[in-house]
Amino acid sequence: MINVLVVGSGGREHALGWKLSSSPKVGIVYHAPGNGGTPNNVEIEVHEIEKLAKFASENNCLTVVGPEVPLAAGIVDEFAKKGLAIFGPTKAAAQLESSKVWAKNFMKRNGIPTARFEVFDDATKAKEYAKSVDYSLVVKADGLAAGKGVIVCNDKSEAISAIDKILVDKSFGASGARIILEERIDGVEASYIAISDGNVAYPMATSQDHKRIYDNDKGPNTGGMGAYSPTGVIDDTMAENIQKNVIEKTVLSMKKENILFCGFLYAGIMVKDGKPYVLEFNARMGDPECQPIMMRMDSDLLDYIQASIDGTLASLPNISWKRQSAVCVVLASKGYPDSYPKNEEILGLDASNKDSYVFHAGTRRVDGKVLTNGGRVLGVTATGDTLQSAIYNAYTRVEKIRWPSKYCRTDIGKKGLRSSVGSDL
Ligand code: AMP
Ligand code: GLY
Repeated sequence: MINVLVVGSGGREHALGWKLSSSPKVGIVYHAPGNGGTPNNVEIEVHEIEKLAKFASENNCLTVVGPEVPLAAGIVDEFAKKGLAIFGPTKAAAQLESSKVWAKNFMKRNGIPTARFEVFDDATKAKEYAKSVDYSLVVKADGLAAGKGVIVCNDKSEAISAIDKILVDKSFGASGARIILEERIDGVEASYIAISDGNVAYPMATSQDHKRIYDNDKGPNTGGMGAYSPTGVIDDTMAENIQKNVIEKTVLSMKKENILFCGFLYAGIMVKDGKPYVLEFNARMGDPECQPIMMRMDSDLLDYIQASIDGTLASLPNISWKRQSAVCVVLASKGYPDSYPKNEEILGLDASNKDSYVFHAGTRRVDGKVLTNGGRVLGVTATGDTLQSAIYNAYTRVEKIRWPSKYCRTDIGKKGLRSSVGSDL
């Protein structure tokens, strides 16, 4: 038996811990720092790498890292130096997410399909370029910006304001010292996530996020307001295409450049005219994509995590998935992604329903009560034999949960009802 330390406090980490705790090989699952729904919370923040390593060492833990910030800071390198088992990419491999410039250049030199782009650190030159192109642009800050560093522009004046915002006003600080001006691709987005040991990569189930705050994809971008799996945007042919031309090519090209990518590799994909384009890479699981994916996973996640660490993934069979659909509806506090109230008591959490599970994110437990403690508060996740029934089951559970500022989209999964059947993933 091995214990597990899950680093992070979101719905993704609750779902990873929940799935790992079902493994007969796992003893105690600890969460650092965790939230109001996770068991065995340890009061260590995600950036306190030394403290996390000490805890993992003293408690015989394999460590699983959820968010990008400790990965980009080199948590995996530090643990490896101490001989501690940890799942996730090294600092060098995490550059796929932590520097968009690095990722775009990597894709370009290795022929991985992505939108054409140029890199600038000078606002005047960037604006000249923006005026000269005859297509719409997306302006991206190079570094980590909590999902806010991407501005999708409708015309040249929006592109020029975006350039000013990042390079002149320095709205994203050092993360915006360089920018990418990238061709805007108008297609359908989906998430393709794989698990890799640096040599091979196995697909996780396909999924689709809902990034905007309001129904019908209106309003500002968020961390994600809901997700479902599998998605018809990625049918079998498209899944094969992405697996070969994006995922395997990335892992093998990284290896050729002497960087082994171990961990979850997340490709944000735009499908246009039957072709996939990589919009971004994340060096981790998606949140909220993780919640429906974990509910559909039949195989033992620990086996795949252990094999990723040991470099033995190729000896395992493909991951098996429940044929059911799963939907995660994110319940947020009104005002998110800007400011929102905290410390409101959440009621109705214990209503039982065999088809659903409520993953916590921005919650904390005080004197037996569960209080809101973040923008994205809960991820109500349900399965069903069809996408339609999974949506029904999720919203049935959503209705029973209440607090004064509760807000959610009412159309999570609807986009999926319109697309085709999808792949077997
Ligand atoms: P990223 O963090 O790079 O995935 O960008 C955030 C969001 O911006 C994506 O989920 C897309 O909705 C949008 N986006 C990014 N790049 C492009 C692009 N080249 N064309 C159209 N939309 C994009
Ligand atoms: N759901 C998008 C992300 O995890 O980045």
